[in-house]
Amino acid sequence: MLRRALLGVSRSRSVKNLVTRAPVTSAVVDRFVAGETTDNVIAVTRQLAGSGLLVTIDQLGEDTTAPEDAVHVVSAYQELLGRLKTSGLSGSAEVSVKLTALGLALGAEGQQLARENARQICLAARDAGTTVTLDMEDHTTTDANLQVLSELRVDFPGTGAVVQAYLRRTETDCRDLAGAGSRVRLCKGAYAEPESVAYRDRQDVNLSYVRCAKILMAGEGVPMLATHDPRLIEIGRTLARNQGRSLDSFEFQMLYGIRPTEQHRLANLGHSVRVYVPYGDDWYGYLIRRLAERPANLTFFARSLVSKK
Ligand code: FDA
Repeated sequence: MLRRALLGVSRSRSVKNLVTRAPVTSAVVDRFVAGETTDNVIAVTRQLAGSGLLVTIDQLGEDTTAPEDAVHVVSAYQELLGRLKTSGLSGSAEVSVKLTALGLALGAEGQQLARENARQICLAARDAGTTVTLDMEDHTTTDANLQVLSELRVDFPGTGAVVQAYLRRTETDCRDLAGAGSRVRLCKGAYAEPESVAYRDRQDVNLSYVRCAKILMAGEGVPMLATHDPRLIEIGRTLARNQGRSLDSFEFQMLYGIRPTEQHRLANLGHSVRVYVPYGDDWYGYLIRRLAERPANLTFFARSLVSKK
């Protein structure tokens, strides 16, 4: 209920103005975001990689409203990928990209524009010796996202997909995506979706997550289980064992600032653990989704509001 309300108001411009101007915000944002600049995110990546974790970096931003803004996003990723290369971090870090930041929603030509922009980022990633994963956004973009993914995979087969267990379609998508070499991140899903397309009950989402994880683990690709949920993490480990998978044939993924002790515990057990690290100044949509997921995050936010930090 609270989650849907928060996600519902997150698109309101006046709420956005209120939240972004509140004297909160640095403490809250710092917890989930690696800073505003490329230097900031390189420093965080170096520290995470040094402690045995893998990284995927997201340059914050979504719902681009002008083609020239999408070009800026491409440039920012190109700069970032160049820095990963020269810093010797591209073996540990890849990038995550949102197609709406690359122009997907810009009318009839949006999909083509987003694909061409994503291709530029994939070229820079290949030059740096790393990969790109296409984040998944709300359900109105799923078909376009998977279409762009399949086109990019012709030239860049390592491009990662994301599927959301809360969508009723996702088991079918997992079957289509479970082929050799295919990197697939499985998450629960973070947007407010109608019941016609998505499970709304937590338990139904969890059951769907397990069915999807089974399909991916039984397939020939690289499942990337993106969750902080202790039960799903244990089920993921069991499924991998039952399939006779080696520890390096799948990943666990978690968000920066969430359950860092668990991230290290899994890495110490020999698992590949990748941390999703967002950076940049356009943090509003990302922050609201994190607050909507967990009442404790909301309490933390409220406390920061009154502490004026
Ligand atoms: P959920 O939020 O239901 O929490 C389940 C349990 O996990 C809790 O009961 C608690 O035990 C534990 N837990 C969760 N948060 C905790 C905390 N802060 N401290 C301690 N315990 C905690 N979504 C999307 O729509 N598109 C995308 O592309 C992505 N990409 C993505 C990448 C990565 C790496 C991750 C981890 C997540 C995403 N997501 C996403 C977000 C995802 O869909 C989902 O909203 C969040 O991961 C929250 O769901 P959980 O699976 O963590 O479980």
